[in-house]
Amino acid sequence: MLLRLRSLRRFLLGAFQSRLPFEQRLRSGLCIFLLVIIFNLLVSPIFCSTTNIIYNWYFGYVLDENYGRLAPESTIEENRNHVVHETICSKLFPDSCFSVVDVFDEKKNEVNRALLVKGFDSEYDTMVRLRKPNGLDFRNSDTRTWKIDHRAITSQYIAAMIAAPFMVGTLSLDNSMNVRKTMLNIGLGGGSLDMFFHIIAPGVNITVVELDPTMVELAQRWFGIVENAHRRTVVGDGIKVIEKTARENHTYDVIVVDACDLSHNLPCPAAGFRDENVIVNIKKLLTPMGCVVVNLLALESETMEKETDSVVELLKSHFPVCVKAWLPDELNIPVVCLPYALENSDISLLLYRKRFEMASAQFGLNVVLKNAIFRGV
Ligand SMILES: *[C@@H]1O[C@H](CO)[C@@H](O)[C@H](O)[C@H]1NC(C)=O
Ligand SMILES: *[C@@H]1O[C@H](CO)[C@@H](O)[C@H](O)[C@H]1NC(C)=O
Repeated sequence: MLLRLRSLRRFLLGAFQSRLPFEQRLRSGLCIFLLVIIFNLLVSPIFCSTTNIIYNWYFGYVLDENYGRLAPESTIEENRNHVVHETICSKLFPDSCFSVVDVFDEKKNEVNRALLVKGFDSEYDTMVRLRKPNGLDFRNSDTRTWKIDHRAITSQYIAAMIAAPFMVGTLSLDNSMNVRKTMLNIGLGGGSLDMFFHIIAPGVNITVVELDPTMVELAQRWFGIVENAHRRTVVGDGIKVIEKTARENHTYDVIVVDACDLSHNLPCPAAGFRDENVIVNIKKLLTPMGCVVVNLLALESETMEKETDSVVELLKSHFPVCVKAWLPDELNIPVVCLPYALENSDISLLLYRKRFEMASAQFGLNVVLKNAIFRGV
């Protein structure tokens, strides 16, 4: 039996031996392919993924020796610079699948960890910086052991959403004033926004609500989110949480809505949040000097402006003031709205611009923000 298995193995491995005649390699190759099909029929639930992996392995993918993982040989440059740690599909939405990938930016000598969403391959859902341990680099080390640098924000829209509550004065640049302030964050992603707040303003009590338990699992496993007295992750439907906490007369100083769905037209905010009742409840939840920060994203270039304008109009029909960000490098449009009117909006906008600059300088966000600005609408 063992001998037979060995000769079978030798036969199959022949497919990879260039010195053997082509027909023999072809035979071995076909045989592997058939075995893969049979194997997959036996384990049909994972048919697609296994077929892909083995297909990739046979047709030009190589084993990444650093990690024992498969990576494409054809894109050798890219392969050298990224490693996929995990691919997992949501238990709640089986159609949405995520990959956790560490990416080495050779030019900047930085390693980032990204969460890629299947179907949105060119866009990453979230990205955090990894802290390089002394004397180690991407090629000679297993980046899974590296820590997350929560202070390094890699995306402009996250940076703008962080600066927004400081810009409108809900949070103070003097941290002692922020103790006992509260924040409700709908949509976790990799937790980069709330973990940044947690580190720069540890007195703020942060509650993060995330619909998808798989996302929470990934954030805990790969993105270094913490659970403690000042920061907690709740698995649940943000809309229901907003409804319930509004009924309980709870209030928050800052509410961040960064909840997206898989729509290709207008993924953010998710359709459920573009609803009058939800917006009324959000307004009810805000403290008198509070603010809500909403991430808008439309992806179809022809309808982009119309779609995002309609959300801004909806917000403006409930909030006396909304200020919209313009980002040089990203399509996202963070909008911050206030539950109170401004005495003199021109002077306030000048003050906001100043405070936005101060906040981005104080928190080291000015490099990523470049010349991003907020404008009144
Ligand atoms: C923060 O808020 C949560 C929920 O509202 C509460 O249970 C917790 O005790 C608060 N933490 C602090 C430190 O006040
Ligand atoms: C919330 O406030 C309303 C109006 O002030 C009051 O009627 C209601 O009883 C309050 N609900 C709770 C749970 O405190």
